[in-house]
Amino acid sequence: MITVADVKNDEEVKAIMFMAESQIEALGFTEHSVRHSSIVSKWAGDILEQIGIKDRRMELARIAGYLHDIGNSVNREDHAQSGAILAYKILTRMGMEYREAAAIMMAIGNHDENQGLPVSEITAALIIADKADVHKSRVRSNVTLMRTDNLGNLNIHDRVNLAAEKSVVLVDNETKEILLKIVIDTEKCPVMDYFEIYFKRMQLCRRAADFLGWKFVLIINDVRFL
Ligand SMILES: [Fe+2]
Ligand SMILES: [Fe+2]
Repeated sequence: MITVADVKNDEEVKAIMFMAESQIEALGFTEHSVRHSSIVSKWAGDILEQIGIKDRRMELARIAGYLHDIGNSVNREDHAQSGAILAYKILTRMGMEYREAAAIMMAIGNHDENQGLPVSEITAALIIADKADVHKSRVRSNVTLMRTDNLGNLNIHDRVNLAAEKSVVLVDNETKEILLKIVIDTEKCPVMDYFEIYFKRMQLCRRAADFLGWKFVLIINDVRFL
């Protein structure tokens, strides 16, 4: 059975991920590289494990997490769809069972807040893991070198990411809550900025948690929002 380690070591995957990152860099977006993919991969698997889905879907979620943004090698626009088809082709070429590859294809095709919906457990875990990765390390180094009093000139995504000191997903088995805890430096970015760009993503996270039969809770600087 194909594992996430096999996928990470695959030369075709490496080439496509390199191209995806170079396109995103050229467009000036926050990073979507191996760091982001690896975090989303780990968190997607961990979420399923912690809510008690401890079967092959855990590994499939890890693979979907690792590959979810490869569509950026084609075009940022509709990257979820192009990435889904690419992932299916790669995984079946590697020898993955058609059904498993199709489950991953469906999850990747639904990870973006513009067209995506939680249509399976793997998809729901992927959505939450992806939207949870907000962190200052995602802002490119040429941006992080800017002086703090110049932050108003940054685009809102960079400002929000730069202000995010920490983001972590936790599962509370007693209350059946999936918690996204974010620590934001409000000197760098008002919490409202966060909501401006993350509102749609947080709504999708809530639907994803609903699909799993859990409740999604957003906690910013120890304040519960959802
Ligand atoms: Fe994406
Ligand atoms: Fe992503």
